[in-house]
Amino acid sequence: MIALMLRRISSPRRFGGSLTVAPDKSISHRAAILNAIAAGPARVERFLPAADCLATLACLRCLGVEWCLTERRDGGSDLTIEGKGIGGLRESEDVLYAANSGTTLRLLAGLLAGRPFLSILTGDESLRSRPMARVVEPLRQMGAHVWAREGDTLAPLAIRGGRLRGIRYHSPVASAQVKSAVLLAGLQAEGETLFAEPAQSRDHTERLLGAMGADLKQEGGMLRLRPLERELTPLSLSVPSDFSAAAFWLVAAVLHRNAEVTLGGVGVNPTRTGLLDVLREMGADLTLSDERMEGGEPVADLRARSSKLRGVTVGGETVVRLIDEVPVLAVAAALAEGRTVLRDLGELRVKESDRVGLTVQELRRMGASIEAEGDALVIEGRESLKGAACDSHGDHRLAMALAVAGLVAEGETVVENAEATEVSYPGFWRDLEALSQSS
Ligand code: S3P
Repeated sequence: MIALMLRRISSPRRFGGSLTVAPDKSISHRAAILNAIAAGPARVERFLPAADCLATLACLRCLGVEWCLTERRDGGSDLTIEGKGIGGLRESEDVLYAANSGTTLRLLAGLLAGRPFLSILTGDESLRSRPMARVVEPLRQMGAHVWAREGDTLAPLAIRGGRLRGIRYHSPVASAQVKSAVLLAGLQAEGETLFAEPAQSRDHTERLLGAMGADLKQEGGMLRLRPLERELTPLSLSVPSDFSAAAFWLVAAVLHRNAEVTLGGVGVNPTRTGLLDVLREMGADLTLSDERMEGGEPVADLRARSSKLRGVTVGGETVVRLIDEVPVLAVAAALAEGRTVLRDLGELRVKESDRVGLTVQELRRMGASIEAEGDALVIEGRESLKGAACDSHGDHRLAMALAVAGLVAEGETVVENAEATEVSYPGFWRDLEALSQSS
């Protein structure tokens, strides 16, 4: 149990330095789940030891998967995991607890829909209020026996796994969790599975599945997956740093008057880097160097420097590519010159919290001129923000976005429920201190 914590933040004289930020959360979940069903052992270097990914590991252990996390010299963790093939999973003796993690619950629902035993999946209060019909619906179309609370819309989910058939599915939402759930079920189905979504969501599952020998192709705007004919090949890899973690320091650096930050080895998969495009359009001084491929993912070193920003209008597919960065983008917009409009944010209302409503509520405490208009945020940039007492409401990305606002506001900012950062970025407060220089 993590003790409730509050953090006090003031703007340092200088904000800068070089840092390796936390490993990628989405890739860590997938590297664990896919290697758990592969045939043989794998080693995942720089596995993210954050609460969300630890929930995935705990569920896998309940399903009979053996793994071991060891601490690295640089403070991170390496995972060794023993895949016994997809048939190696066994019924859990207890409810599978996904804690705060939508990725854990939705991906495991897809996987377990095809396993011949009973699984019950649940999570914390936030996860139990998030939409689950989006995975129940396609899995049922595949023939799965899945039930959920409140008319099959909310966790807990009960799954009596069994035979599945491939489907042709047009997802109404652009969601990597839905896509991954359907693909994990599709691996076990009879016949092909075809999947399309309104805009491309992050593609880490597809990249890993391809590297592990699955027959998966992008054809005519649809993903086409053939069921497994032989077991997945285990894949050892090193997880790049999380662009969604780097995002906080990029925004802090461009907003701070005296800043230069370099972040090494950050994942720059184009399905994730919408924030780079938008910040550049706003006038940010951002550079990428040493672009390379690591573990099947594009990686680069990023540098951000103090910049003068102007407002922008963002919507559509760009929002999908920066969905987790909207709260911190709102902080940037609050200090940009002119008006910023962020549209098409419906999905943000069903994240770990209603991130549209809470971003408005909390940034207003700091004097930001920000309003929600339906599923859009309208922000009039100001010269400055003022420090205030704010609350993360237990949402990790809100906690970190408020900390960034505190780094560039006048006076002191207090972030309550600051421990929420543990969900995705365990070293967040240590890294904030390392980059904050008082002289
Ligand atoms: C994730 C997908 C996104 C994202 C979440 C992680 C993933 O959610 O917001 O933080 O790892 O698949 P959706 O699939 O609900 O868009």
